[in-house]
Amino acid sequence: MIKDFVPKIKIELDKINSENELMNLKSKYLGKKGELTEFTNSLKSLTIEEKKVQGPLINTIKKEIESLLLNKSKEIKRLLIDKKLSDEKIDISLPSRGNRRGTIHPISKVLIDITKIFSEFGFEVFDGPEIESDYYNFESLNIPTDHPARDMQDTFYLGNNNLLRTHTSPMQIRIMETNKPPLKIISPGKVYRCDSDVTHTPMFNQIEGLLVDRDVSFAHLKGILNEFIYRFFGSQIKTRFRPSYFPFTEPSAELDIEWINKSGEKSWMEVLGCGMVNPKVFESVKYDSNEFTGLAFGMGIERLAMIKYGITDIRYFYQNDLKFLNQF
Ligand code: DAH
Repeated sequence: MIKDFVPKIKIELDKINSENELMNLKSKYLGKKGELTEFTNSLKSLTIEEKKVQGPLINTIKKEIESLLLNKSKEIKRLLIDKKLSDEKIDISLPSRGNRRGTIHPISKVLIDITKIFSEFGFEVFDGPEIESDYYNFESLNIPTDHPARDMQDTFYLGNNNLLRTHTSPMQIRIMETNKPPLKIISPGKVYRCDSDVTHTPMFNQIEGLLVDRDVSFAHLKGILNEFIYRFFGSQIKTRFRPSYFPFTEPSAELDIEWINKSGEKSWMEVLGCGMVNPKVFESVKYDSNEFTGLAFGMGIERLAMIKYGITDIRYFYQNDLKFLNQF
């Protein structure tokens, strides 16, 4: 009897708990060779009158079976999710491992601090190339051919008259070539010299400064640099300007700060080079040195960082030792 299918399937459904078994059951009854399909086919021989009675009945039974199967499928899926949820339980009471915070590299920190101070003074910041020509690095800056800086021992030559810049001063020329005076700029960046010991690395960072205007004097140079040192190191620090020589400035000076050395004695420590722009440099960029004067300075970032943070070996900066870097 067609009606017997429903209770029979219900009993079988109760034993099933996977989609696979459900598929098998479905094909067992509703498939091409399924029991219900065969039963339906066997009705072909009935008379039209009998078919009118049996036809709708079969359809109702079929629908009922289909809905039974569908409900079972839903139930299996729900059970599967429940099982997954209970198996993959996360213990939210476990303490977390904590985040490790990165720190700013001391060189970057000092660069940011210095740039900020000069920006407050109204200086604009410019970037420049690390591969330079002999002309920009030396010649235009009035550095004669026999100057020691040109020696193979100091400069990394790249051939074709190119080299790795040995200082940021070529940026003075590049900026003056493309800008009319007055101007007030700084230019931080990497420089290279063939040198390596506790106070020298083959690559280090400098900041170049240049101010060109009418009536710029050595007093302006002293004022700006003193104020810079006070802001960078704190107002207690003592400075002194000592005569020096650079081919691209005339007169030239070095700025020293008072410093307590390892044995606890007061001593002077050189922190930067500076001077009034040499008229020969203005000639290179066709500035009229009767109308304009300029002041320039250049400082080593690593050196300033070493003084500020009491670091004794410059190589610490580039060894990427987290114990060192995490202090900043
Ligand atoms: N370029 C020089 C160096 O690397 C530093 C320097 C000295 C820059 C005097 C200047 C300056 O602008 O006026 O040793």
